Amino acid sequence: MQIVILNDATEVAAYGADIFTAQLNKNANSILGLATGSTPVALYQALIERNKAGEMSFKGVTSFNLDEYLGLDGSHLQSYRHFMNSQLFDHIDIDNANTFVPPGDAKNPISACHEYEEKIAQKGGIDIQLLGIGRNGHIGFNEPSSGLTSRTRVKTLTKATIDDNARFFGADEYQPHLSITMGIGTILDAKKVVLLATGDNKADAIQAMIEGPLTAACPASALQMHRDAVIVIDTAAASKLKDIEFYRHIEAENQKLQAYLASL
Ligand code: GLP
Repeated sequence: MQIVILNDATEVAAYGADIFTAQLNKNANSILGLATGSTPVALYQALIERNKAGEMSFKGVTSFNLDEYLGLDGSHLQSYRHFMNSQLFDHIDIDNANTFVPPGDAKNPISACHEYEEKIAQKGGIDIQLLGIGRNGHIGFNEPSSGLTSRTRVKTLTKATIDDNARFFGADEYQPHLSITMGIGTILDAKKVVLLATGDNKADAIQAMIEGPLTAACPASALQMHRDAVIVIDTAAASKLKDIEFYRHIEAENQKLQAYLASL
């Protein structure tokens, strides 16, 4: 894992936006894996600004979102489809027909999961997968105990996740307790994975992901197995790392290597 520790959430968003901008300028037909939650909002804002400034285009891009609440259709204000439209897709030059979010209103959710996997494979697989992390170490909606090679499927949400996400729902509004989510195996198949985390409420999950054992009890620890995982965090989210100075040192050395390679 490449561990990048930055000062604050603004720097984390800008670093993430740089990765996505470089990817789109390298391959205008990239397949992007996208995420919801409050963490990627600033990154999406940066991408919108760069797109409007003509720094890159989403015209040839296809996107696949990680997850969706089962039981909400895309017009529901708390659906992840609605989140993606309002936070990103409505403001960039992407073709909406090329944006995919698992269908929360699928009549047959099991076959919808298989179809989602098939669609990703048909498009040639995901180039970069964006991730946030839950306080319990979940990625997508892969809650603790998720199989480390799991594929897109229906998952039951933990009480902790339901409580964390309750802030988005009205007091008497129906809040789903099931989801459709890419599996950990699906995520690990992406060519590159970029996980963003900010704030001290993520510090325990970040510590377990980076320094804990590879375990289904912390689904994000599966990224230890990925060949190109970049973990971009602020100092608050990094605050419980035991070996933080070593990670800063590796990254400084990495920067020097990149500068040298660029000079060749
Ligand atoms: C939800 C999403 C995850 C996301 C997590 C953290 O549960 N399914 O993909 O990473 O929330 O969200 P936030 O960024 O708001 O802390």
